[in-house]
Amino acid sequence: DRVFFVGGNWKCNGSKSEIKTLVESFNKDAPTTSDVEVVVGAPLPYLEYTRGLLRSDWGVSAQNCWIGKGGAYTGEVTADMLADVGTDWVILGHSERRNLPELKESDATIATKTVYAISKGVSVMYCIGELLEERESGQTIAVCERQLKALGDVIGSDWSKIVIAYEPVWAIGTGKVATPEQAEEVHEAIRKWLAANVSQQVADSTRILYGGSVSPANCDELAKKPNIDGFLVGGASLKPDFVKIVESYK
Ligand code: 13P
Repeated sequence: DRVFFVGGNWKCNGSKSEIKTLVESFNKDAPTTSDVEVVVGAPLPYLEYTRGLLRSDWGVSAQNCWIGKGGAYTGEVTADMLADVGTDWVILGHSERRNLPELKESDATIATKTVYAISKGVSVMYCIGELLEERESGQTIAVCERQLKALGDVIGSDWSKIVIAYEPVWAIGTGKVATPEQAEEVHEAIRKWLAANVSQQVADSTRILYGGSVSPANCDELAKKPNIDGFLVGGASLKPDFVKIVESYK
């Protein structure tokens, strides 16, 4: 049975004072229950600060890390370092890191990062999803399968430290949420891919999150779908009523 999972991705936002106010509201307002796993993704300089303030039943996530162990890689941060400061999770392969012209991370780079992070005990929210032009040309499932295969080629049979986040790029930050039917269709295809290419056990146990304009107003309908096991939330995770999205596990 898959425990519902809600991740918040703060992206490149926030300050110590804003984080303190937000975390205090989460600590006070959110339910304490083992029926939902919650993780917030803070910018690197605030990871340890967030860990220190945040309720102990919620996890903290980074939003990126280096591909392997440390050394002469100016400006980079390793998964070893993330683990050392109490970071439980890292978001990898976010569409902004895949697609921003300054970054352009490849499928292979993201897969390499994922395997290394897991080897250091840092769990991974592995993000996949199609661009608008890919959806419009009927390539949605093929794109998601290509992104999954990049990881499948290097990770082996243990996916227990991975959750998959399906985030259609056209739905991110646009207010254009996928319909529950659109999301469910892709989530079902992802689970079928896992069953056919990894194992039935991994297909049954891996959480598949939806991300892209999730809000307190649309989360309940999405959460009803059998293959939607939670959310990865951007903008709405910077507000106190992120707690309403956490409560959509009910
Ligand atoms: P929004 O919820 O702001 O659309 O962002 C989604 C996202 O990119 C989460 O990683």
